[in-house]
Amino acid sequence: MSSGRPVRHFLRDDDLSPAEQAQVLDLAAELATDRFARQPLAGPQSVAVLFDKPSLRTRVSFSVGVAELGGYPLVIDAGGTHAGRGEPVEDVARVVSRQVVAIAWRTFGQDRVAAMAAASRVPVVNALTDQFHPCQVLADLLTIKQAYGRLAGLTLTFLGDGSSNMAHSYLLGGATAGLHVRICAPEAYWPSTDVVATAVSIAGRTGGSVHVTADVKMGCTDADVLATDVWTSMGHEGQEGARSEVMLQYSLDAGKLAVASEGCRVLHCLPAHRGEEIAAEVIDGPASLVFEQAENRLHAQKALLCFLLEQAGT
Ligand code: CP
Ligand code: NVA
Repeated sequence: MSSGRPVRHFLRDDDLSPAEQAQVLDLAAELATDRFARQPLAGPQSVAVLFDKPSLRTRVSFSVGVAELGGYPLVIDAGGTHAGRGEPVEDVARVVSRQVVAIAWRTFGQDRVAAMAAASRVPVVNALTDQFHPCQVLADLLTIKQAYGRLAGLTLTFLGDGSSNMAHSYLLGGATAGLHVRICAPEAYWPSTDVVATAVSIAGRTGGSVHVTADVKMGCTDADVLATDVWTSMGHEGQEGARSEVMLQYSLDAGKLAVASEGCRVLHCLPAHRGEEIAAEVIDGPASLVFEQAENRLHAQKALLCFLLEQAGT
């Protein structure tokens, strides 16, 4: 079964080089217009999709995507496994990767997907961790490219929890695409300095840039894309009150759109809380691309799986 090549994983946005990211996005655009153009999983071969946290979009898009690639999606929720009884991640990887051709996993710490990948014979895809949500940002980049016809040189501002998985993935994935990425967040919720440093280094090679600010006007002025996400991510339940208070001024409302570039588009990975991190008139208004963005999870992940399986010689 093994091709002898090292197995490629997608655990963080910068696991794809700029050229590889562009290749995946081109294939995603092709699959968006011809959904059954590629059948690398014909057989059917199986892809395991594991969840330690809730999901709607990731569950649907991986399930439908694997089926459309000719394969069988094996969706497993942690509650139905031995995870709660202490089965080691490495043993899960050894068992599952002998029977499937790829594993997608939504879990807590990034160390967990790294441990899964280290023990897996097949590609492992991060379907969201506390630190990164790279499949979402691939879909977001596809959405921006569909709207503007290009990525490099555009300015994307993320408003809200700058220490979140989405902010970190915009930094790495956006810099890889040559975007000017701005994180606009209260100082207590700024991104990891390691991730910012890595994004700065990538941006130095792609012509992008990275800017972190608490100043809303500075953050939003002339932005081509305004993006936000929930103020309280999964795993931080109980912190809603404190977070809402400090993040209130970062809500993506009409005032932010007013200072952004003309024709600015709006993203939210969903689920959304109207009246909190995003105004109803914005998410349901003409600038919003959120449902295109949600559909693009399907096309982007299918393209990613095609890429990883091809690299693995599957
Ligand atoms: N955006 C996203 O990942 O949604 P789910 O949590 O519903 O999968
Ligand atoms: N930042 C959010 C994303 C949900 C898709 C969370 O981790 O809960």
